[in-house]
Amino acid sequence: MDFKRSDFPEGFRFGVATSAYQIEGHAQGGAGLTHWDSFAATPGNVVRFEDGARACDHLNRLDEDLDLIRDLGADVYRFSTSWARVMPEGRGAANKDGLDFYDRLVDGLLERGIAPAVTLYHWELPQALADRGGWRNADMPDWFADYTETIMSRIGDRTWSAAPINEPWCVSWLSHFEGHHAPGLRDIRATARAMHHVLVSHGRSIQVMKGLGVKNLGAVCNFEWAMPNTDSDADIAAAARYDAIYNRFFLGGLFKGDYPAEVMEGLEPHLPDGWQDDFATIRSPLDWVGVNYYTNKRISATDDPWPAYAYAPTQGPLTDMGWEVYPQGLQDFLTRTAREYTGDLPIYVTENGMASATTPDPDRIAYLTDHLHSVQAAIADGAPVAGYYVWSLMDNYEWALGYEKRFGLVHVDFETLARTPKASYHALANWWR
Ligand code: FCB
Repeated sequence: MDFKRSDFPEGFRFGVATSAYQIEGHAQGGAGLTHWDSFAATPGNVVRFEDGARACDHLNRLDEDLDLIRDLGADVYRFSTSWARVMPEGRGAANKDGLDFYDRLVDGLLERGIAPAVTLYHWELPQALADRGGWRNADMPDWFADYTETIMSRIGDRTWSAAPINEPWCVSWLSHFEGHHAPGLRDIRATARAMHHVLVSHGRSIQVMKGLGVKNLGAVCNFEWAMPNTDSDADIAAAARYDAIYNRFFLGGLFKGDYPAEVMEGLEPHLPDGWQDDFATIRSPLDWVGVNYYTNKRISATDDPWPAYAYAPTQGPLTDMGWEVYPQGLQDFLTRTAREYTGDLPIYVTENGMASATTPDPDRIAYLTDHLHSVQAAIADGAPVAGYYVWSLMDNYEWALGYEKRFGLVHVDFETLARTPKASYHALANWWR
């Protein structure tokens, strides 16, 4: 990798990201059951019915993993706290061991000179709350506010940055419309409510953290560059609908206080009463925005009811996820986000990386190199990009695709749990350290 730190602006931060359920080992340490455990236990949802019960056993290998982050030379570690580990029933009593674990995690980072970047929800909803309708329930913002208070009263004095919810699109659309992630619903009304309640919950959580004096608060959204499959008007309109649902809905809510017309066409009848009044909460001011970016999608129109689009065949080289490699999309999202939504607000690339099972992994090195060039191009274009975090520190539980898809800079042997840094880890360490 032909980079130096001085190729990026002064103070630019490099980091790595993970999430709780994907690495910790959720059957241990007193965590409550989550909707991912029950989703995974239902045949047909997850490859080989795999779940996060043991995962990378990070819970018991914390120091070893933190040493890997330090030796990589990362400035920032983006991790998440598990709601069900902190509050096993989602509400009420806290799990002392869970709080102690995150306390040790934050202290362990600070001892090693790494900035702790916490996300409070990366998808493992406590089952007790899923039983009450989960993100469909209008009480979610209250429950999430209580959880925010519980975890951040404990660690919020030492975190460097905090974001309430990872990827609202996945939490709502992917999980309630497409049914690919827990809770595995395919229901337009559930989707509309989840999309809105996720944003209200985000806003409430930001307000709680502000009240506690927690610093450097942001939002993390994921994006896919939507391309019309042909230049027909129908395909162009279908790609615009895809873009609105995936990319513009959440930024629109967070930064403009409205939702795109293409989304309202399908979802407005299903939104909860009084949704327009929630934008004051949703728009609680932020200190930064996070962009998670992996790929693009080619979109065709269909004759189905709204949203009336389908995925057209991919083109060119694919990652192990079957995703196209399209670095230009990262540059375009960074510049578009700044230009149309966030202005001077610092933007962090909070996730970027590729699934590849090859070791050594020159394909991952090439992917990261190309996307870092996109970041540089966006900065040259005036986008205030302030950091870039690789997904992921180590191979982990890739949700519905189980342990087969390997995103790590560090290889994990899921039999022995041995960690072995890959060529990409060394390539980054060469100029990060
Ligand atoms: C993102 C998720 C992360 C991981 C990567 C590949 O959407 O935030 O947990 O699954 O994709």
